[in-house]
Amino acid sequence: MVLMKRTSYYWNVLVLLVLLIKQGISDDLTEAPPPIVMWHGMGDTCCFPFSLGTVTKMLKSKLGESLYVKSLKIGESIITDYESGFFVHPNKQVEEVCRQLSNDPKLGNGYNAIGFSQGGQFLRAVAQRCPVPPMLNLITLGGQHQGVFGLPNCPSLSQKSCESFRRMLNVAAYTNWMQNFLVQATYWHDPLNEQKYVQSSSFLADINNERSINQTYIENLMKLKRFVMVKFTKDTIVQPLQSQWFEFYEPNQDKVILPLNESSIYIEDKLGLKAMMDANKLIFLESEGNHLQFTDEWFTENIIPILQP
Ligand SMILES: *[C@@H]1O[C@H](CO)[C@@H](O)[C@H](O)[C@H]1NC(C)=O
Ligand SMILES: *[C@@H]1O[C@H](CO)[C@@H](O)[C@H](O)[C@H]1NC(C)=O
Repeated sequence: MVLMKRTSYYWNVLVLLVLLIKQGISDDLTEAPPPIVMWHGMGDTCCFPFSLGTVTKMLKSKLGESLYVKSLKIGESIITDYESGFFVHPNKQVEEVCRQLSNDPKLGNGYNAIGFSQGGQFLRAVAQRCPVPPMLNLITLGGQHQGVFGLPNCPSLSQKSCESFRRMLNVAAYTNWMQNFLVQATYWHDPLNEQKYVQSSSFLADINNERSINQTYIENLMKLKRFVMVKFTKDTIVQPLQSQWFEFYEPNQDKVILPLNESSIYIEDKLGLKAMMDANKLIFLESEGNHLQFTDEWFTENIIPILQP
């Protein structure tokens, strides 16, 4: 009887210890912010100290020096990385990134993703096509989710030359040759000829489920905890700047913007955006300034909380 009591006493102590240790371990796990994967924009690279290098420093200073930040590099070197922003088809780039992410053991429990400019829509494609390892939150800064119709700084040209550039590019952008040659042509979106865009856009029309509905894209996108879209209110690079919030022109003209909740992609829920909105997973943020311009304070207040565990 006494022996029984004693063993059960030791037994209880042992169980308690195990519980405490388990608790401690899981506390450690939940307290560390998840790793971060970043994808740079066009004309930038993984590793310029003045661009994503600065962001990496900022992230570590706010979230802890031990935070794992992976700034994606496409190809073998910074040169191939730079060139890929123009000349390597997004489908190929996304495929390579999926491989890089699944081969990185540090990302196995999930990661947060931050896309800069076109890196935003590319990371969305990663979320939709490659659910392993899991992307937790997707943050796109100045992404072009509905593509672009216009050249950087177009409005600063005279209205007439801006308009004639657009029309000229319409002819070129949808040729097979351009679709395979120039990354930016794969998300050129002509509102004056939606049908041509849907047929010819070899990247954006696909990931937006505008060509046909890929149910896998919907299911995978909805796995995100949050999909955060940041719009720069004085952006002169992205035309129309509302593309950063997944909005675009009303069909058949290029002046009036259709609110997201009145657009067909949303109403018909072709991509799961409506379901995500209803589940409070879509977050729309603004930063006052031109393309990718934000202050340390703005980032700390708006983005850092999303990256915390
Ligand atoms: C849908 O997307 C998944 C993930 O990229 C892909 O494996 C599959 O082939 C696509 N299905 C169709 C019908 O295109
Ligand atoms: C769309 O959203 C706005 C608020 O952002 C709201 O005022 C409007 O009623 C909504 N329209 C529809 C059709 O749901």
